[in-house]
Amino acid sequence: MKILVINGPNLNMLGIREPQIYGRTTYEDLCARIRDHAQKIGAEVEIYQSNHEGDLVDRIQAAYGNIDGIVINPAAYTHTSVALLDALKAVGIPAVEVHISDVSAREDFRQISFVRRACFASVIGHGIDGYLEAMDLLWESYREN
Ligand code: DQA
Repeated sequence: MKILVINGPNLNMLGIREPQIYGRTTYEDLCARIRDHAQKIGAEVEIYQSNHEGDLVDRIQAAYGNIDGIVINPAAYTHTSVALLDALKAVGIPAVEVHISDVSAREDFRQISFVRRACFASVIGHGIDGYLEAMDLLWESYREN
């Protein structure tokens, strides 16, 4: 199984940005944990981060035909991007949405998630572990299908 982990804008600043909300784990540490976990469950993993909406759309499109599951934290684009929703729908790859923070308990503008409609599960507010939980969900659904 091949999993693609996609991170949107400002997630490359993890560990530096608002540590009281997102914690002290750096983006590099997050990538290392994702790679370790992939090895543990016996999946291949690719990790992609961009601050640009169109680049994220391009990466989702490029996954068509060669990726079995997508973990996506679209960051701020969660709350604004129909383009990311459409890209996920276009490729039809099973996807899980992740948010490090508990967006449901934050500002009003964070209460909307466009991509959620194209994801079979959402892991919200579980910190960095949420990415690993999302990988497990993809792995389980891949094995069942
Ligand atoms: C986030 C939550 C978003 O509202 C925010 O814009 C982010 C990160 C999270 O992981 O908690 O950049 O997706």
